[in-house]
Amino acid sequence: MSSADLVVQIFRKLSVEDFRILNIIEAAMCKREFVPREQIQKYAKVPIDRVDFVLNKLNKLGLIYHSKGAYVGHTLNYAGYDCLAINAFVKSGAVLSFGQTIGVGKEADVYAALSPAGETVAVKFHRLGRVSFRQTRRKRGYIREHSSWLFQSHLAAEREFKALQLVYKNKVSVPEPLSYNRHAIVMGIIEGGELSKWRKIANPQRVLKEILRNIRKAYLKAHVIHGDLSEYNIILQPDMHVLIIDWPQCVPMDHLNAVELLQRDIQNVLTSFNRRFNVEAEVQLAYDYVTGKTRNITF
Ligand SMILES: Nc1ncnc2c1ncn2[C@@H]1O[C@H](COP(=O)(O)OP(=O)(O)OP(=O)(O)O)[C@@H](O)[C@H]1O
Ligand SMILES: [Mg+2]
Repeated sequence: MSSADLVVQIFRKLSVEDFRILNIIEAAMCKREFVPREQIQKYAKVPIDRVDFVLNKLNKLGLIYHSKGAYVGHTLNYAGYDCLAINAFVKSGAVLSFGQTIGVGKEADVYAALSPAGETVAVKFHRLGRVSFRQTRRKRGYIREHSSWLFQSHLAAEREFKALQLVYKNKVSVPEPLSYNRHAIVMGIIEGGELSKWRKIANPQRVLKEILRNIRKAYLKAHVIHGDLSEYNIILQPDMHVLIIDWPQCVPMDHLNAVELLQRDIQNVLTSFNRRFNVEAEVQLAYDYVTGKTRNITF
């Protein structure tokens, strides 16, 4: 059972009072990492033994962590943060019930879920901090040194959701953004596999052109650059059309490193098409096409 399946099971065991205490801890965490039980009681307005009972339960379920060292108090774990986001999605009607894990990335877990309308959707939980702090900072320049991982994951989800809305509106081929809360986003579910998993495809030149056409649309119409494009973030669907996923590090075209990031995105795609499918294409020609200098590209 994955950690998410566990969280969904735990979620079902939580009462309104449990959520209230989780919410209080979350709110107080913007000022301090570890929240003392006395402060929790002040906001919860219930007897201290009741607070202790709930804290004990949340602790046993792995939703919070009790620090007994220099800073005595309680802090949310990812599992607790997950429960708060799941609760918000259920309350707002974005999600009715959760299903299987469908993707585990470096810094995210993705699950299938059911919407109240009976449609299957995907829910992506950002989990920054899984890879080392320095690596993440290098990759995502926006992370502030002292903010917590939960807050940074919240920021990543917000950025990804807004980027998805923008590119989706401009008809870039991406999953449909549906909702976001805290560190999680709900989006349309997609079928297919990452380009990195395909050994052979019928017409790789056509697929490459479609990818470049999408990078061009994102650049010329939405005025953004993906910033982390690779064969792992391009999905080839069963109908052989592409979808570009994983947008939290998307940057505007007037970003300081825009040229460098766009060139790197293009280079990554061309390199993998060359290695996997033996397609030769020049970076400069692709760059000119994507940035609108030329109207067409042929390989
Ligand atoms: N909308 C979706 N529908 C179905 N599966 C998805 C969807 N979005 C993502 N996935 C699956 O989950 C995997 C991980 O997703 P994604 O690439 O967005 O996260 P990630 O690689 O952890 O991101 P990062 O490392 O940049 O934080 C994907 O490779 C894909 O298999
Ligand atoms: Mg990815």
